[in-house]
Amino acid sequence: MNETYPRSTSPPTGIAERPVENGQVNWDAFNSNAYFSHNYGELRSDDRRIIEIVADFFKDNPPAPELGRAIDVGPGANLYPAMVMLPYAARVTLFERSHANLTWLADELQKPHGSWWQFWEAISTGRPAYDPINKPLDTLHGRVSRERGNVFALRADQYDIGTMFFVAESITTRTDEFRRATRLFVTALRRNAPFAAAFMRLSSGYVVGDEHFPACSIDEEDVDQALAPVARNVKIERVESEDLRVGYDGMIVATGRRK
Ligand SMILES: C[S@@+](CC[C@H](N)C(=O)[O-])C[C@H]1O[C@@H](n2cnc3c(N)ncnc32)[C@H](O)[C@@H]1O
Repeated sequence: MNETYPRSTSPPTGIAERPVENGQVNWDAFNSNAYFSHNYGELRSDDRRIIEIVADFFKDNPPAPELGRAIDVGPGANLYPAMVMLPYAARVTLFERSHANLTWLADELQKPHGSWWQFWEAISTGRPAYDPINKPLDTLHGRVSRERGNVFALRADQYDIGTMFFVAESITTRTDEFRRATRLFVTALRRNAPFAAAFMRLSSGYVVGDEHFPACSIDEEDVDQALAPVARNVKIERVESEDLRVGYDGMIVATGRRK
């Protein structure tokens, strides 16, 4: 088997979903190239819609310091959440558990794929905050720190703005870990800091390269309940995926501010 079913699709026949907690998974077996090619080799309509929601949210809800500290938790092989935060961030921490993804990110920032320009166009068009940034990938490279870390060990009150895309529900089958990861992401931000988080909806797990990864099947209500103790002004929106595949049912985007 050499196919990639990334943020999406069901495990291939024969691989049964079983309870798996985050610490049991070998995240260094994550095939960053395969994941990138399938998801970010070109801009898909669901990511375009997510960009619209998140970039407009940050435009209307900028962080208090004009240029603050940003964090993207579990970037994997995705640069666009960090790109969306650029006008508001003097520093961007890419906080990742997987050595494989951290190495991939270092290489990617040195020599980025051309497809990121499609994402940048969707992010920046019609939003003047992005106008001063002419070379977004160079700017990002200059502001990024890659940090190896575990969402479950994030320290509280550290960042002014944050994103976490397809992580809390896509790193475990356990609902309690999904909730804990979501809350620890938000509490890593300072009081009132704006955040955006994206989730796979009703995911039953996914395959990247030759490896199966766990997911926790969640919906809008689960996201709302996970965020309620730590966030305010929460808005939750469902995003349809154009190619309806087995194994998930679209995506969910949540925006809000830390309580
Ligand atoms: C499905 S991928 C999502 C990647 C990317 N954010 C995106 O938007 O496509 C899940 C990511 O979470 C990372 N991850 C897994 N467990 C983690 C943990 N405990 N702390 C931080 N990151 C973790 C994985 O290495 C992987 O990069």
